[in-house]
Amino acid sequence: MPTDRQDLQVQTMVFYAVAPMMGYTHRWARVFYRMLSGHVQLYTEMLVDQAVIHGCDITVLPQEGPVILQLGGSDPDTMARAVAMAEPHAYVAYNINAGCPSDRVKQGAFGACLMKDPPRVAALIRAMRQETHRPVEVKTRLGVDDLDNDDHLYRFLESCLHAGCARIVLHARKAWLSGLSPAENRTIPPLQYERVLAAKARFPDAQIMINGGLSTFNNPWHDALDGVMLGRAVWDHPEILLTVDPLVTEQEGRGDIADIVQHYIAFCHEAGARPSLFLPPLMGLGRGKAGARAWRQSLTNILAQRTGQGGSGKHDPLLIHRMIEESFVRFTGDLNGAKLTQMVV
Ligand SMILES: Cc1cc2nc3c(=O)[nH]c(=O)nc-3n(C[C@H](O)[C@H](O)[C@H](O)COP(=O)(O)O)c2cc1C
Repeated sequence: MPTDRQDLQVQTMVFYAVAPMMGYTHRWARVFYRMLSGHVQLYTEMLVDQAVIHGCDITVLPQEGPVILQLGGSDPDTMARAVAMAEPHAYVAYNINAGCPSDRVKQGAFGACLMKDPPRVAALIRAMRQETHRPVEVKTRLGVDDLDNDDHLYRFLESCLHAGCARIVLHARKAWLSGLSPAENRTIPPLQYERVLAAKARFPDAQIMINGGLSTFNNPWHDALDGVMLGRAVWDHPEILLTVDPLVTEQEGRGDIADIVQHYIAFCHEAGARPSLFLPPLMGLGRGKAGARAWRQSLTNILAQRTGQGGSGKHDPLLIHRMIEESFVRFTGDLNGAKLTQMVV
C-alpha cells in the first residue's frame, strides 16, 4: 500500500476517449487506435475483479500508450486486491463499471446495479484508493429502473465524489435491468444530454465526461464538459480517431492511414496476434465508401479460411499476412485514388 498518499491531478484539458467495449477494445484494437491517435484515452474492456485476482493477462503493451483499466466488481476488498494486482502495470487510472446492464453483470450485482447502492460504490472507491496513487473513476448512467431522476443521480454522484472519485463518465441514458438486452439498453432508453450538462452545472468542480450516441469527437458538448467518449462510432469508423490529435495539439494528425494500417498489420503479424482478434478492428475502415464492403468481405473470408469454415483451412501465418496485405492493396485501389484520410467524418 502506498504510504505517502498524494492524489494525482486528473488532467483538466478536454479528454477524448474510446469507450470500454467487451470483446472489442482488446489489446490489438488498442494498439491500432493508438497508432491513429497519440492523444486519445483508451480503456480496457471490463475485467471482472475476480478474474484479475486469479491471474488473467493484464499486461499492457508499450505500443498501447496510456490505458485505463476498467474493473467490474462489487466487493471493496476484492476490487482493492484487483487494483493491487494491476499496480505494477502501466495503467494510468482505474474505472469502476457502474453502468453495464448485462445479465452476467447483474448476477455479480455490479455494473448498473451499483447505481442503486451509492454507499457501496463509495466503499469501492475508498478501498481502491488505498491501493493506488492513480485516479479512480466511475462510469455510470443517468439512472437505473425507477431510480431515474436527478435527485438520485446527484446523490449518487455526490457520494462518489466525496469518496474521492476523480472523474465521472456519464452515459447519457438510463438502464433497465430487466426487459431489455444490453444492446437494447444502448438504443431504447432515450439520450438525455441536457441531464449530463445539468449534472456538470450541479458539480462544476467535478470532472464529467459525456458518452452515448455521439458520432464525432468535435461535438457541441466538449466545451461545456471535461471529456467526450465514443464507443460504437470508433468501431464503425476507426478513421475518426485521426481527428483527435488536431483537436488537442492544433497540429496535423498522424499522417497517411494506409501506412498506419500496413504498420499495424505488420506489427500484429510479428507479435503473433490471432487474426480473429486483430482483423475485426480494421473492418470499419472506410465504411460506406467504394470498396469498403469488399474489404470487409475479404477479411471475413480470410478469417473463415483461418478457422477452416468453408475454406481451405490454411493456417500459415505468413500466408494469412500476405492475403491481408493483398486485400488492403485491393481496397486502396478500389478507393480510386481517394485517400482514406479524406474519409474522416
Ligand atoms: C459491444 C459493446 C461492449 C461494451 N462493453 C462495455 C464494457 O465492458 N464496459 C462498459 O462500461 N461499457 C461497455 N459498453 C458500453 C460502452 O462503453 C458505451 O457506454 C456505449 O456503447 C454508449 O456509447 P456509444 O453510443 O458511443 O457506443 C459496451 C458497448 C458495446 C457496444
